Amino acid sequence: MKELVARSLKYQAGKVQVLDQYLLPHEETWHHCESVAQMKSLILTLKVRGAPLIGLAASLLVAYLAQQGHSKAQLSEAIDELEATRPTAVNLMHCMRCLRTALQQHEYVRAVIAEAERLFEEDCALCDRMATLGATLVEPGDNILTHCNTGALATAGVGTALGVIHHAARQHGDIHIWVDETRPLLQGGRLTAYELAQWQIPYTLLCDNMAASLMAAGKVDKIFVGADRIAANGDFANKVGTYNLAVLAHYHNIPFYVVAPVTTLDMSCASGGDIPIEQRAEGEVTGVSGSFGSCQWAPKGAKVYNPAFDVTPAALITAWVLDTGIFYPQDVATGRLGTA
Ligand code: MRU
Repeated sequence: MKELVARSLKYQAGKVQVLDQYLLPHEETWHHCESVAQMKSLILTLKVRGAPLIGLAASLLVAYLAQQGHSKAQLSEAIDELEATRPTAVNLMHCMRCLRTALQQHEYVRAVIAEAERLFEEDCALCDRMATLGATLVEPGDNILTHCNTGALATAGVGTALGVIHHAARQHGDIHIWVDETRPLLQGGRLTAYELAQWQIPYTLLCDNMAASLMAAGKVDKIFVGADRIAANGDFANKVGTYNLAVLAHYHNIPFYVVAPVTTLDMSCASGGDIPIEQRAEGEVTGVSGSFGSCQWAPKGAKVYNPAFDVTPAALITAWVLDTGIFYPQDVATGRLGTA
């Protein structure tokens, strides 16, 4: 068995530990994870979150269960249950599909473990390639706006959109990042701000609804965001609020880039309309709770609309930065999105 260590996921001596992202940035608490029920709960409560990380954490748990002697039927059931936790991020489905194939092999225990470990290592390599390619789009002095958290916390490597920012900052030194706080669960305000501070990259935090006036003031040069699923026509789903940014970027003539590994492409979705969108609990919008306590501000019984993601149409995207290359609208129109 390999020893695999990422910023928010550890696999050592065959055991799985995850960093509790709900308690960040004030508390770094690691959870040992030994059952499907526990991993499902960690994913559903966003303690384990970020499209690539969800798939990898679930995969390593299946590898752990295989070592523990779970039968083929039990492993198959575990894969089905884990796959059903969050419906939008296709990386989870991709990982579970790979494990299902491994499970068909004669020596399935060895095959499942090897496949989970391979998926982790592959994600590190994909992140590095995206970050290196994406950094070529950044110029010294750029002010970059980003949304949600797409960094090392959300992947096994350096991240997707935030990975680009990491590599660009190492190359140019003098870039500055505008961080959308990302309502309702504040992945930007809590996690992206935390990662940028640790990487010593200058940033300024803003409420999501301040982006329009910031762009109008000419203070945003480029936008980089991640993706949870990209359809064949280039439309993509990402954290709710991404579409707002794309519309605003179009109006203000600001380049808008989406960064994701090829494992985020879902050619079975012809367009964004085919991507299932996760709806989340009302309590995430009617109030707030965290390590600081909880508070409810909306009146009792308030009706809530809380989709976790929205879909940005391809027409608003300047380029798709994948690990296989940078793709422009003409590539998408000719069916070359994702091809090396
Ligand atoms: O609900 P989350 O926090 O899992 O949503 C995460 C995002 O939307 C990210 O932008 C996405 O996973 C892409 S990159 C890691």
